[in-house]
Formats: sequence, C-alpha cells, structure tokens
Amino acid sequence: MAERQAWDRAFDPATGLRLRPDQVPAGTVLPSDRWPNFFSKLVAKLQWNPDAIDLGPDAKAWTELPDDRRERLTKLLAGFRIADNAVSLHLEPFGPAANNSLIAWVMFLQRRDEKRHATFFDRVAAEVLKLPGEAPEDRLEAARELAPPGIIKLFEEELPAMAAEIEAGRAGLNEGMSLYHMTLEGMVLSAGQRALLTDLEDEVMPGVRKGVYHVELDERWHIGFGLRCLIDYNPPREVLDSIMGHAEEAADAWGDALPDEIRDLIIPMARRRLAIVTKQIERAHQEAA
Ligand SMILES: [Fe+2]
Ligand SMILES: [Fe+2]
Repeated sequence: MAERQAWDRAFDPATGLRLRPDQVPAGTVLPSDRWPNFFSKLVAKLQWNPDAIDLGPDAKAWTELPDDRRERLTKLLAGFRIADNAVSLHLEPFGPAANNSLIAWVMFLQRRDEKRHATFFDRVAAEVLKLPGEAPEDRLEAARELAPPGIIKLFEEELPAMAAEIEAGRAGLNEGMSLYHMTLEGMVLSAGQRALLTDLEDEVMPGVRKGVYHVELDERWHIGFGLRCLIDYNPPREVLDSIMGHAEEAADAWGDALPDEIRDLIIPMARRRLAIVTKQIERAHQEAA
C-alpha cells in the first residue's frame, strides 16, 4: 500500500505539519478542524531514528546481568517485540474508519511511530537478546516463545479481531480506540514502558533505555490523541464501560514481568483517564444545552 493517500495531500509527510494554502496544489482543500493539527505539530518535534541508537554497550552488558534481571527484561522486551509489530500492522483500518481527513492523517502519523517502535524492538531482539534467525519474522517467532502469554493474546488475537471488525464496518472508531488507545497503549504498554524505564534507570543498558524513552514520549501523544477522539466522538456508556471491563486483563497481561507496584497503578490510572473523558463529554453536553 502506498504511504501517501488522497486525504494527506495537505500535509508534509516528513514532518507531519500541515502545509500553508500557498504550498498545496491548486484545488486542494485544507481541512478546517484545528485540534488534530496540534498532534501533527507535536509529532514533528518528536522524530527519532531507531537505527541510530548504539546498542553495542547494551549487548555487552546483557550477558553480565544477573539471571533474574535478564529473565524479567527478556519477557518485557520480547513482549514489546510482539506488541509493536502487531500495532504497526493493525492500525491500518483505523484511518479510513475516521471518515475525517485530519484524524486519518494523525492515525497515519501514529502508525509511522509504531513502525519505528517495531524496528527498534527488532534491533533489540537481534543485537541484545540475540534471538535466533536471520529475518525479522524469525525473531518474531522466537519472541512468541518468550513473551508473556497475556501479551500475545491481547496483541495477536484481540487486536487483529478488532481491526477486522472495523475493516468490515461492524465496529467503529469508538470501539477501536477504546481497545487500542485506552487499553493497549494506555494500560498495557504504558505499564511495560514504566517497568523498563525503572529497571534501566542505572544506565547499564543506555541504548535500550534511550529507545524506550523515545517510545514512551510517542505513546504519550498516542494516548492523548485517543482520549481527545473519544471525547469528540461521545461514545455510548457501554463502550466506556468496556474500557474498565478490560482493566483486569490489561493489568495481568505482563504476568510476573511487572513489579507489583507498577501493576497496582494500572487500574487507578485507567479510572482517572476515563473520568477525564466522562467529565469532558458532560461539559460538552452542558455547553450544547
Ligand atoms: Fe508503539
Ligand atoms: Fe502507540
């Protein structure tokens, strides 16, 4: 599939910035909605290159880590190898489902981030974890043996099933964003990133830490974007309830790879985010009344 589509002619794909009227071809209509442009500006500032991070010191340190620490990090990093591969593939139907050129463009930028994350975690799998195989697919297969089963179920079963429902028109962006942005990114991945950043605080593996730091910054705007969309789309109560319905599963997904103190943060964090969505929707209703 081509990287650029008809709806994105009004943007610069290198930076994510919206072009000025004098920069776009004659006849191109610039979208009028404002807020998705905030995210495209933010993305332009967050660009990073997953191939430029030196993982040499990390590969050396890896073999000298205590066994229990290496086992815990293996589960987390193999989990991210699986998760970011899955999200880089299954975000595709979300853009067309938005039926709004600016939101579709921001979804495109998000998918580009996810591909970058997938590239980075594949490098970690190859160069640090030294997973067997010459090709990314081989390492993906090897990561499936090492990642927590809860992660594989969420990212390789539930997410593709949701993407297929969206593609077939049986589910909308509300349901998709509830699973993707609120549950997978907002709960599962953010907890995994926090576990990695906490574990790597001692700078023993500076390259992995740097990459996860960039991933964390990207994921923050993805979640913010999902929240913003849900507020605007004003989903029915049962869609919002389904987010909390997934919270226990999300909290358990990493198994014992997640320290208890991080696991315990997941459900209260989900509740806080949901409260933001509900409050903003109520405010919009009051303003409209
Ligand atoms: Fe990601
Ligand atoms: Fe993401």
